Amino acid sequence: METIIRTFDEGDLEEASTIMAESFEAKFTRLADLSVPEIAELSVHLGISYPRPFHGYLVAQTGESVSGVIVLKWKGQDRLSMPMRWRKARKLGLWNAVKTLFGMILLDTSPKAGECYIEHVAVSSEHRGMGIGTMLIEEGERIARRSGLPLYSLYVAESNEGAVRLYQSLGFSIDKRVKSWLTKRIFGIPVWYRMVKALDQEIDDRR
Ligand SMILES: CC(C)(COP(=O)(O)OP(=O)(O)OC[C@H]1O[C@@H](n2cnc3c(N)ncnc32)[C@H](O)[C@@H]1OP(=O)(O)O)[C@@H](O)C(=O)NCCC(=O)NCCS
Repeated sequence: METIIRTFDEGDLEEASTIMAESFEAKFTRLADLSVPEIAELSVHLGISYPRPFHGYLVAQTGESVSGVIVLKWKGQDRLSMPMRWRKARKLGLWNAVKTLFGMILLDTSPKAGECYIEHVAVSSEHRGMGIGTMLIEEGERIARRSGLPLYSLYVAESNEGAVRLYQSLGFSIDKRVKSWLTKRIFGIPVWYRMVKALDQEIDDRR
């Protein structure tokens, strides 16, 4: 079945947020006692899953299904502010909503000028290992280059060895090893890698 990468569309919200919820279930369930569909719903209400398209928000489509999602973030990006629907979020449990929001704020990163940061990348479990994550990251790289951003970056848990290998195979290298007692306590993730890929160098090499 053919996979294409395209801009997120409003009709993709349910599938895209389910993929994110499923991919980050281990993190979410440390914060809230919820099922994958409930996590997906909560993430929409809290504005963690973005309901509207913007430049740098892409999905993979395999056949008729959304199979993956990538969200890029850079300084000066034109993103609509996402409303938080607290009343709806509370219906999934006030404490669940508060803890999830706190956790997401903790993981939030503000990229520096010139940096294209991968905020999320996830592929649905039944589509993993088929090259879709690679396609999403490579398309993100094209957007970064076209937007004149010389650095492509992300954070990944040191323990997520498969993902670290994938990023290394795509040209990222470890820039920093960051320890956090807070994320250790909250998510069970004591160490993160900041991984980067310089994009200007490769353009020079092609000349
Ligand atoms: C990481 C992720 C996006 C990769 O997507 P994908 O479509 O499976 O990736 P690809 O098919 O393009 O590449 C496969 C490569 O990914 C690596 N990989 C990533 N996660 C892996 C895992 N959990 N187990 C084994 N290998 C993994 C392997 O190196 C594999 O290479 P191989 O096929 O030569 O063994 C996907 O596994 C995912 O959504 N994981 C859960 C969420 C997550 O960890 N996101 C990254 C957080 S920074």
